[in-house]
Amino acid sequence: LFGFSTNRVSGFFEPIAPSKEDKLVLPPRFRYDVVAAYDDRINPAGEKFGQGCDYNAYFPLQGSDRGLLVTNHEYTNIFSLGPIHNDQLTAVQVEKELYYQGMSVTEIYKNEQGVWKLDPTSTYARRINGFTSFELTGPAKGSAAVNQAAKVQGTFANCSGGITLWNTVLSCEENFQETANHAKLDPTHYGWVVEIDPKDAQYRKKHTALGRFNHENTAMGLASNGRIVVYMGDDKKDACVYKYISKGTYNKAEGRANAKLLEDGVLYVANFKKGQWLEVTIEAVSKVLSSEHFKVPYGVSMTKEELVQRYKTQGDVVTYCHEAALLVGGTPTDRPEDIEISPFDNTVFICHTNNDTHGNIHGHITRIFEAQDNLAANEFDFEIFAAGGRQSGFSSPDNLIFDSNAQLWVVTDISTSSHNKGVYKSFMNNGLFVIPTTGGNKGVAMQFASAPIDSELTGPFFTPNEDTLFISVQHPGENTTDLSKPTSTWPHRKGDKIARCGVVAISGFKLS
Ligand code: FEO
Ligand code: CA
Ligand code: CA
Ligand code: CA
Repeated sequence: LFGFSTNRVSGFFEPIAPSKEDKLVLPPRFRYDVVAAYDDRINPAGEKFGQGCDYNAYFPLQGSDRGLLVTNHEYTNIFSLGPIHNDQLTAVQVEKELYYQGMSVTEIYKNEQGVWKLDPTSTYARRINGFTSFELTGPAKGSAAVNQAAKVQGTFANCSGGITLWNTVLSCEENFQETANHAKLDPTHYGWVVEIDPKDAQYRKKHTALGRFNHENTAMGLASNGRIVVYMGDDKKDACVYKYISKGTYNKAEGRANAKLLEDGVLYVANFKKGQWLEVTIEAVSKVLSSEHFKVPYGVSMTKEELVQRYKTQGDVVTYCHEAALLVGGTPTDRPEDIEISPFDNTVFICHTNNDTHGNIHGHITRIFEAQDNLAANEFDFEIFAAGGRQSGFSSPDNLIFDSNAQLWVVTDISTSSHNKGVYKSFMNNGLFVIPTTGGNKGVAMQFASAPIDSELTGPFFTPNEDTLFISVQHPGENTTDLSKPTSTWPHRKGDKIARCGVVAISGFKLS
């Protein structure tokens, strides 16, 4: 198993100090290879790796030495589009934006020298982006809310994601609005959870039963009654935490056919005051709206009449999910980012990254305890597992993964405009932290990596043997306004004059 053990973790790697350098800084003994970077050719057809890398998932072809890497591309910036004048994209810029965001499937391998490389001859490698078509499933498919569409063009703003129990990828459309506006497309066709199969280019779905909002990620688990449960965050200030429970039960032997479980089920929203999961259904919404004591809840800027007009079917509820969730009693929270289910005890970890509207400047990690440790429970309790700030050394937690020793790997996302300023000074560049969830160091954050200038680390994902950690370096040099003076030129390839986001493979985990 993995070389870490919770009682000697600080001896296993020497935590690093915060850094302001334009480098991906790792503890002694660890090294990294750039597996793919913005605009690299990924296949014989000449398709190019996207920009703004976020989520990563690795699917073995040959164990932990060769596999398919699925990467999300959240958004584009000056290094692909060039300067934008008056906030108005030219037709060429719109085309580039649709192309370079979305997703990539690449084939990668570890060569004889132990260096991770991209295989540009791969027959699996492909791009999925603003030009790719998707089939809608679930209650909004063909409904008035999506203008009767059953098929839509493109996926946008793919932030984090998750894998399914049947080895496909769920990719989350987060800040979709802008891209859809630029391309003059129907905004209700975006903001969904997308499913792709890394090994089957024809399989592309958007599952509307999981709701439409600023989706950060998915965390899928199995309830004690065999139903699948998907936890999701809506990464907005004062937005909610959701879970979806399938109607049917999971059958391993059926493989990908289990995806139908994502088409029929019940969406719930968390009420943190009552410790209850509340149904987000047309029945629940209609009941609230017809109550004689009805009051428009905090965060909803519509009149009762407008709400009654909007919500007629479950298709309307999933399409306009945020207000529906607040109506039924969902608790507005501090920007829920990534969610992870502990494989050790079924507790659920949520990064509430921050919310300056209410003075939560550095964010915190919430831990949910489902009743009877059952993911399908209606009731829960919770604690603040770790809080960002000077005392813990991290600020603004974002993506999470577990290692096999019950340690959380947490990346941080202090917004680029706040880096190295004011109350964010002591944290310096964004980083990657390790936080044990059990044992004597429970809740203590140790810094493992520091990101290049203006970037955040996103999408951590281990190979099955935990020899390699893949992670994205997202938006290095993002503060650049003049392309002749980039604030970062990471990954510092020979002759390169711009910064390129990319995915790296970190090695050195096993003690020899
Ligand atoms: Fe794209 Fe919420 O991070
Ligand atoms: Ca994120
Ligand atoms: Ca995660
Ligand atoms: Ca973030």
